[in-house]
Amino acid sequence: MKLIKIFFLFIIFQLQAQQGGMWIPSLLEGINETEIEALGGALTASDIYDINNSSLKDAIAHFNNGCTSEVISLKGLLLTNHHCGYSQIQSHSSLENDYLKNGFWAMSLNEEIPNDELFVDFVVRIEDVTEVVLAGVTETMDAKARQSKIDSNSYYVRTEATKEDWQNVGIKAFYQGNQYYLFIYERYEDIRLVGAPPTSIGKFGSDTDNWVWPRHTGDFAVFRIYADANNRPAKYATNNVPYTPKHHLPISLDGVAEDDFTLVMGFPGTTNEYLPAVAVNQVVNKINPANIAIRESALKVIDANMKASDKVRIQYASKQARIANAWKKWIGENQGIAKSGAIDIKRALEEKFKNELLKKGLNNQYGSVLPELETLYQSFEAVNLNRNKFVEVFVRTSELMQIMMQLAQLENATMADDATFNKAKEGVSARLKSIYRNYNPQVDKEVFQAIIPHFTDKFDASIYNKTAFTNQKLALKILEGSKADIVKALNKDAAYQFAKPHITKFYNEVEPEWQIKNTQINNLQRQYMKALMEVLPDERYFPDANGTLRVTYGKVKGYAPRDAVYYEPITYLDGVIEKYVPRDYEFDVPQKLIDLHKTKNYGNYADSNGKLPVAFIGTNHTTGGNSGSPAVDANGNLVGLNFDRVWEGTMSDIYYDPEICRNIMVDIRYVLFIIDKFAGATHLVDEMTLVHPKQKD
Ligand code: ARG
Ligand code: GLU
Repeated sequence: MKLIKIFFLFIIFQLQAQQGGMWIPSLLEGINETEIEALGGALTASDIYDINNSSLKDAIAHFNNGCTSEVISLKGLLLTNHHCGYSQIQSHSSLENDYLKNGFWAMSLNEEIPNDELFVDFVVRIEDVTEVVLAGVTETMDAKARQSKIDSNSYYVRTEATKEDWQNVGIKAFYQGNQYYLFIYERYEDIRLVGAPPTSIGKFGSDTDNWVWPRHTGDFAVFRIYADANNRPAKYATNNVPYTPKHHLPISLDGVAEDDFTLVMGFPGTTNEYLPAVAVNQVVNKINPANIAIRESALKVIDANMKASDKVRIQYASKQARIANAWKKWIGENQGIAKSGAIDIKRALEEKFKNELLKKGLNNQYGSVLPELETLYQSFEAVNLNRNKFVEVFVRTSELMQIMMQLAQLENATMADDATFNKAKEGVSARLKSIYRNYNPQVDKEVFQAIIPHFTDKFDASIYNKTAFTNQKLALKILEGSKADIVKALNKDAAYQFAKPHITKFYNEVEPEWQIKNTQINNLQRQYMKALMEVLPDERYFPDANGTLRVTYGKVKGYAPRDAVYYEPITYLDGVIEKYVPRDYEFDVPQKLIDLHKTKNYGNYADSNGKLPVAFIGTNHTTGGNSGSPAVDANGNLVGLNFDRVWEGTMSDIYYDPEICRNIMVDIRYVLFIIDKFAGATHLVDEMTLVHPKQKD
C-alpha cells in the first residue's frame, strides 16, 4: 500500500511540474488524456472533440476573430467577456442611452440589438494536412521557393477539402511551420446584444486592477446567435431565429475549491515559447521599454481627458482600453521574466541542446542553427525597434497619424489606373470614416504632442493647428477631387508634409529590411523547433498559440508571488465592498449591488460558506484571445469565464512557470447572480441548464 502511495505521489509530483501548454483538440488521446485524469478530470478526448457526436468544442465559438465565446442555452445564448463586447456596447451607447455606464438588458427577444460586422466561428473539423502541404518541400530550398510550394500545396488542400457550401476552410502552420492543420469553420453573422452589466461591475477596478489578482470584476456580456430557418448561418434578417446549438454548456451551481480540476478551451492568439535567450533579451530590454514609454505618454493625456468629460469617456472607451491593456501587460511581462529567470533558463536549455547535439552526432546537421539565430537577432534589433516605434506612433496611438497613413496610401494609388484608384479611394474613405467616428481633435492633439518626441525630435507642434485633416468634412471633400487635385491638396497640408517622409521611409526602407530579416529568423526558428524536438525528445512541446482552437487544463490554485505573500485562489463579493470608493471612476459600486450584499440576497448562487464568489484563479495556460473562454469542471460543466492573467505571470507568453502563472476567471455563479438578482433578467437564467455535480444523490 505504502509503496503504491509513494509511487502515485511521485507521479503527481511529476505532473505538477508538467503543467502548461495549449493543446490541439483533435490530438488529446494519449498523453493529454492521461494528464487530465491525473489532475482529476473525468473528460475523455472524445468528450472534448468529436466529429461524429456532439462534444465540448461544439459549444465554443471564436468571437469576432479575437475573443472566445460559448453557447449556454438551447436558444443560442452566447457568453463572452464585457471587454470582448466592449466596442459593441460602446457603439450602442450615447449620452442619453449610456449602456457603458448603466448596463443594458433585453427583456425579450425583440429588444436584442443587432451588431454590424460582428460574427462568430465554430470549428466543425480539424485535420492534419502536414504531408500534403509540405509535399515536395526540401531542406535545401530557399525561403521563397519553399513558401511558393507551400502556397500552391495549401491551395490544393483548400479546394479539395470536403465541406458544405456554407462552411469555410483555414490552414495554419504549427510548431513554427513543421506541421500544418486544416480547419473547417461555420461562421454565424447575426449576433445580437442581449445584456451587459454596468462598467462599474463589468470593468470594476479598471486599469488599476487590470492584470491583477485579487480581482473583483464581473467581466461578462451576453449575446445571442441567430440563424436562418434551417439553423444555418445567415446575414442579419428580422425573421432569423435563435440558433439551436449542437452542444450547450450545462452550468454548475456548485463552484470550485482549491485543487479542483479545470479545463479552458478557446482561441489563444499568439505566444512565443521557443524564442532563444537572445530574442527574449531583445523583447525585455528594447522592444517592451520603447512601447511602454510611448503608451505611457499617450495614456496620461487620454485618461485625464476621459475623467474630465463624459463625451470623451464614451468616445475613447475602446481605444483607451486597448492601449492601456498591452501597456500594463508588457510591464508585468518584463517583471515576470526577470523574476522567473527565464533568460537564464533558456540559456541553460540551449547549452543542454548543444551538448546533446555533440553526443548524438547531430552537430553537422543542426550545430549552426543557434549561432545563426544569435547573429540574426542581433542584426534584427535596430530595424525591429524602428518598426515597433513607427507602428506605435503611426498606427496605434495618434489618430492624426493614422489618417496620414490612409492618405499616403491614397496618394500612392493615384499612380494606378482609374479602377484601382477608385477602389483604393473607397477603402480609404471607409477607414477614414471609422477613424473619425470617435475622433476628438483636442484630445488627439495632446496625444500627438506627447508621443511624437519618442519618435523624432524634428517636428513642429503647430502642424496640428494648420492641417485640414482634423475636420472630417474637409477631409472627405478633398477626396472628392481629381487625382491631381488630391495630390496637390495633400502635399500642401502641414500634417501630411510632416508625416509623408516618415511613412515613405517606413515603406521603402524599414519594412522591407524587417521582412527580409524576419523571414530568415522564421526559417531558423522552424529548424530550431525541429531540432529541439528531435534532440531533446523528453521536453514538453506544445505548439505556440496561433488563433486556433486549443485546450489547456490545470487546477484551481493560489500562488506566492513575493516573499511572505500568498494569494488565496477565490475572491468574494465582500472584497468588492472592501474596494468600494464612492464616485471613483474605477472603484465605484452600484447602490443595488451594495444593497444585495447588505441583505445577503444571493439566491442559489452563494458558496457553501455563505459568501458570494466573484472570481478564481488556476494553472491553465492562457493568453490574449482566451478572453471569454469557458472554464469547465472535471465533467465539462461551466464553472467560470476566463478573462485575464495575474500580473506576475504574464510572461507565460514567452515562458510558462507553473509556480506563478495563473489565469483569472469570473465565477459563473457571480455571472448568474448579476443577471438574475442585480439585473432582474431571470428569463435568461431560465433558459440555461443548471446542474449540481457535487451533490451526490
Ligand atoms: N487584461 C485583460 C485582457 O488582456 C482584460 C482587458 C480588459 N480590461 C481593461 N481594464 N482594459 O484582455
Ligand atoms: N484579457 C485577455 C483577452 O482579451 C485574456 C487574458 C490574457 O491575455 O491571458 O484575451
